[in-house]
Amino acid sequence: MSKSVASNVRAPARKLRIVGFLCNWCSYAGADLAGVNRLQYGHEIRIIRVPCSGRVNPLLVLKCFQEGADGVLVAGCHPGDCHYQDGNYYARRRMLVLQELLHFFGIDRRRLRLHWVSASEGAKWAEVVDNFIADVKAACEEAPDGALSLDRTDETADAR
Ligand code: FES
Repeated sequence: MSKSVASNVRAPARKLRIVGFLCNWCSYAGADLAGVNRLQYGHEIRIIRVPCSGRVNPLLVLKCFQEGADGVLVAGCHPGDCHYQDGNYYARRRMLVLQELLHFFGIDRRRLRLHWVSASEGAKWAEVVDNFIADVKAACEEAPDGALSLDRTDETADAR
């Protein structure tokens, strides 16, 4: 891997880049409802529709950070409402573990979030996005310069 994950996730002096993975059956419909109701929320988010939150591979989230995303938001159906029975339960476990892994890598946990948003919760979707953007912005601003680097080649070389 030629490019470290954190080399692109320094505190931004630019517009934030947020990736949102939304399950097709609930959260995407909720975001759609927010749009239909003309609710205003942060435009920094780029939405990717997925069949289910359980289909969001953790490697995909890492790839987002590697490619320069400042935050990743995964949204799915409420527990018990998953169209595929238990995909959101898998997502919850995976994202919890992934948050710990990101922390180990030096990436603030606040940059990854999982939320449940139903098709009727357009207002909640707008609120979730705005809160997440504020948290990601704070996490980016609080990060000490260089603290997010995942490129351990220098440390490895020193340890030899
Ligand atoms: Fe929405 Fe599984 S279908 S989380």
